[in-house]
Amino acid sequence: MNGNEARWRELGLWPLWVGRNPAAERAETPTHAAQPAPSAPEVPDGVADMDWPELEQQVRHCTRCPLHETRRQAVLGVGDRAARWMFVGEGPGAEEDLRGEPFVGAAGRLLDQMLKALGLDRTSNVYIANVVKCRPPQNRTPTEQECAACMPYLQRQVALIRPSVIVALGKVAAGALLATDSTLGALRGKTHDFSGIPVVVTWHPAYLLRTPADKAKSWEDLCRARRLMASLCTPRDGSGDRAGT
Ligand code: URA
Repeated sequence: MNGNEARWRELGLWPLWVGRNPAAERAETPTHAAQPAPSAPEVPDGVADMDWPELEQQVRHCTRCPLHETRRQAVLGVGDRAARWMFVGEGPGAEEDLRGEPFVGAAGRLLDQMLKALGLDRTSNVYIANVVKCRPPQNRTPTEQECAACMPYLQRQVALIRPSVIVALGKVAAGALLATDSTLGALRGKTHDFSGIPVVVTWHPAYLLRTPADKAKSWEDLCRARRLMASLCTPRDGSGDRAGT
């Protein structure tokens, strides 16, 4: 039993939930690096079968981890629920907690610029979510337990949206999606896999605000993601007509 498995067992989140073989349903299979099976815990309360209204209700009233005690509101996600692009961050900050929408603070404004550079905006063909749906006090990094408790919601969002490409923003998002504690540097530049969906890892916008010199590297990552997206969009499915593809 590995460390993650032991933690999920402790949290009652084992055995793993396995999605409906989305890879087999895709017209083209991306060539991405082999990764261990996606870390998708089975959820005893039926999250894995929920539709959007049920998921919204569940997240709004969630008490699965202590973050619910200090949140103003849970923040599920924002954007197009039929999007081909999905961006995943860490967790809501103060502004997100207040407004109920992910990435609306300073980091969010940078994310909007990153989306714009890709020909995207948060209202169309993009869905934005976080690993944890409730703000960690003082904007601290969410704990592994908090991430594990919230992962079923992200898994359900991914299963409902079925994006073509996921961009993991920062170490927490990459670590949770890929069940790894590798450094961001080690994860960048490769295509990973979450439930059969290719994942590209890049720096978190909040990090880029502090370290603008790394914006160029982040742009390289986004360009990789865009090439990957283009390779997944066949002319037949019409999605090449949509922005950012
Ligand atoms: N705002 C979010 O919604 N997520 C983050 O990871 C950071 C800021």
